[in-house]
Amino acid sequence: MTYNYKVVRQFSVMAVVWGVVGMLVGVWIAAQLAWPQLNLDIPWLTYSRLRPLHTNAVIFAFGGSALFATSYFVVQRTCQVPLFAPKLAAFSFWGWQLVIVAAAVTLPLGLSTTKEYAELEWPIDVLIALVWVAYAIVFFGTIARRRTPHIYVANWFFGAYVITIAVLHIVNSAALPVTWTKSYSVYAGVQDAMVQWWYGHNAVGFFLTAGFLGMMYYFIPKQAGRPVYSYRLSIVHFWALIFTYMWAGPHHLHYTALPDWAQSIGMIFSLILLAPSWGGMINGIMTLSGAWHKLREDPILKFLVVSLSFYGMSTFEGPMMSIKTVNALSHYTDWTVGHVHSGALGWVGFITMGSIYYLLPRLFGRTQMHSVRLIEAHFWVATIGVVLYIAAMWIAGVTQGLMWRATNPDGTLTYAFVESLKATYPYYYIRVLGGLLYLTGMVVMLCNCLMTIRGGKAIDAAIPGVAVAHA
Ligand code: HEM
Ligand code: HEM
Repeated sequence: MTYNYKVVRQFSVMAVVWGVVGMLVGVWIAAQLAWPQLNLDIPWLTYSRLRPLHTNAVIFAFGGSALFATSYFVVQRTCQVPLFAPKLAAFSFWGWQLVIVAAAVTLPLGLSTTKEYAELEWPIDVLIALVWVAYAIVFFGTIARRRTPHIYVANWFFGAYVITIAVLHIVNSAALPVTWTKSYSVYAGVQDAMVQWWYGHNAVGFFLTAGFLGMMYYFIPKQAGRPVYSYRLSIVHFWALIFTYMWAGPHHLHYTALPDWAQSIGMIFSLILLAPSWGGMINGIMTLSGAWHKLREDPILKFLVVSLSFYGMSTFEGPMMSIKTVNALSHYTDWTVGHVHSGALGWVGFITMGSIYYLLPRLFGRTQMHSVRLIEAHFWVATIGVVLYIAAMWIAGVTQGLMWRATNPDGTLTYAFVESLKATYPYYYIRVLGGLLYLTGMVVMLCNCLMTIRGGKAIDAAIPGVAVAHA
């Protein structure tokens, strides 16, 4: 009896392909902000349509495919059974790719619900819900049939992400359809805003964080060859994190029509969130105790460990930005965009790259990737790219915030808006450069993956102990 690696292979390869596509669109919109002529006067290519295309492509196509791949792999390996309902698993792959293609067609056409990270219109939302139910059946069915007494902690994180995303998606996307391409949210006014940011923040907490923590708890111990530093801490980490994230959404709505007490609750829970986030990060980093020397020659481990540093940085910055007086400066500025990408490029991107570099040779019967030196090169160009991107956005953001609030002694504004825009341009150029470097790294990864696949052949590893049991 063997594990079902086919669907893991499919999702892994598509994660890399969608990564290149999504980041290419990211570089394109970054360039449009620096050189607006790049809108080319073509409605489909305007910034307003390509921006949601970028966010959907990187979060759901790149991040989502990586999450499907790794969760399907980890749940089989740690439960020592093949995937439950393999036909449903295959449906989840093809269904998810169809969602992505539908997004890539409808968003440039301007079809959008206008809810951030939930822009897709209702027929696509229905398909997402179906795929997700199939995913949940495969994932939890595999856990139910496990041959190990224990459910490994990575599966707890993956499980929480699968359940929560289903709830968030269904509640936030509830809408009244009027045509095949147009619907209206069932919520109105401030309730709509609150539901949207309860969804939006937990999309960060469960899609961009909990699922990737599942990756951390499997791939870091594996690559470092050490057990998790503290298993007890990982359980505390899990419960504290999932409980706290749920309440932090209102920090996206500071100084709005949302009641003040709700904003304060969002702020307080965001501050509390620092503790479980850092607890988890420390658990991951300390897993390297006794194996630090491996970092010198193992670029995969470099990706995995540096991702944790960015996780620590963005989960320190987030709670700070949730403090109302800090948010009064940061909101609407590029500081937010810098924060987003220190999490997205540094944490989500790096942990995904490290995990896929670990996975791919094993899925294609090779001992290692085609070229370890190319992994090393990828690591360095990507690191320089992230640093350029986020440093540029921090400086741009704080500059904008300070210029907008500067007043003359008579109470008039010191700067016109356009002056703050002019001051931002140099940083937009630097971001394009950083984005280009990061994208280059991703293209190098794609080539390395294709060469690895060419030199290997698809294999499904045998499940230990099963053949013996049958004999
Ligand atoms: C080459 C890499 C990338 C580049 C150049 C890039 C560029 C951009 C740009 C220019 C924006 C619009 C900012 C604005 O409206 O002011 C943006 C938004 C965004 N990007 Fe990226 N991006 C990249 C990779 C990624 C990745 C890998 C992720 C997620 C895993 C991501 C997630 C997001 C999100 C969530 C937003 C919306 C931010 C907000 O609303 O504040 N990006 N990106
Ligand atoms: C302890 C953890 C975190 C807290 C408390 C937190 C807090 C915040 C705050 C206060 C904002 C600004 C809201 C605004 O002014 O509009 C924000 C924006 C954002 N954060 Fe975080 N953050 C955390 C971690 C992360 C991580 C790890 C990621 C990515 C992987 C991330 C992704 C985002 C995104 C995408 C936005 C922009 C949302 C939008 O306006 O479109 N955050 N976060």
